[in-house]
Amino acid sequence: MTVYDFAIGQTNPETFPAEAFKRAALRAIDLEGAAMNRYPGGKGHLGLRQLMARRESEREGVLVNPENMALMNGSMQAVTLAGQALMSAPGDLVITETYTYSGTIAAYKGIGLELVGIPVDADGMRIDLLEQRLKELPVKPKFIYTLTSYQNPTGTTMSRQRRSELIDLAARHDLPIVEDNCYGDVHFEGDKQPSLYALQPDPRHIYIGSLSKIFAPGVRLGYLLAESPYFQKIVSRRHDAGSNYFAAAVLAQFYQEDLWGHCNNANAVLLRKRDLLLAALQSALKDICIWSRPTGGLFLWLRLPEDVDLVKLKALSAERGFYYAEGKDFHVEGKTVHFIRLAFGHVPDASITQGIPVLAECIARCRMSNASGQFTSLFDD
Ligand SMILES: Cc1ncc(COP(=O)(O)O)c(C=O)c1O
Repeated sequence: MTVYDFAIGQTNPETFPAEAFKRAALRAIDLEGAAMNRYPGGKGHLGLRQLMARRESEREGVLVNPENMALMNGSMQAVTLAGQALMSAPGDLVITETYTYSGTIAAYKGIGLELVGIPVDADGMRIDLLEQRLKELPVKPKFIYTLTSYQNPTGTTMSRQRRSELIDLAARHDLPIVEDNCYGDVHFEGDKQPSLYALQPDPRHIYIGSLSKIFAPGVRLGYLLAESPYFQKIVSRRHDAGSNYFAAAVLAQFYQEDLWGHCNNANAVLLRKRDLLLAALQSALKDICIWSRPTGGLFLWLRLPEDVDLVKLKALSAERGFYYAEGKDFHVEGKTVHFIRLAFGHVPDASITQGIPVLAECIARCRMSNASGQFTSLFDD
């Protein structure tokens, strides 16, 4: 059976730079074989930190100090350690978007944090609703965790105005912000929005990046950028003796050759895939569904008619080889919602064009009526 796997957010395998990566690995072993006999320590490989600091600096137009950066075993480790360092006891509150990354939901609930969801619209987290919620909450949350660009799962990007409002509001309430920007360089259309640390330097801002999305998740490398005292507080919580030095040394060799080339190649292909997906959805589902138009990242958020039987849709789609992620997996309260997330990064072109008609057929068969879409927008007020 042909499989149409839109479930997992992975990079595009066709643009994996195998030859250049092989050359980088040989150089790394020649040059750094001796260092591989030692534990890397809390911050990790200096060369890669310098390159990632340069990358951040070039993107954001501000100086980034590699001494304030620690490599992590994927950005997921940074997300978890930041949560642990900022909380004081189980039951503490963290603000997130109502829909957020399922891994973060699991990690934060796993360490005892309670998530308070703030609705998102096309401009990102609704700061007006956040302000209202902060007034209503019986206790002060410990921090705000936000996916500012190419949000997982909705694909939306927080506008410049909202970023400024978020920074001001957090400062007024003395709340740290954890900005998870792991898709920051997976940008393929329009202007890039500045990161929060570039808009307003603030020691309460913690920033997280990843090599999983700009390179490949198998290298398991991400990084955290923070200032004193949070930087030390977070790094001191790790007890894993540091991140994979070998992978970091190879990536440092790889990026020394060309810091942006691979990303530019990969993003051009992602844009093509996004456009194929948008075109396929337009021709198969335009009368009954509505969806986001991501300008970066790996995901598209699709709203289904309310009369779709979601349990039946999941079973029928799987029977036909079509896999997607269910909206409820990203809802902070696990609420059943008529949304699905389509991850298009690693799906071959032909599977996009052939797969979406399969999804459309499954949706049609799981509806209780023939009515057209009952909504005019992706997000409710
Ligand atoms: C928003 C977000 N943060 C963090 C991660 C974790 O990525 P990694 O640990 O591979 O860097 C993901 C992965 O999908 C993600 O979507």
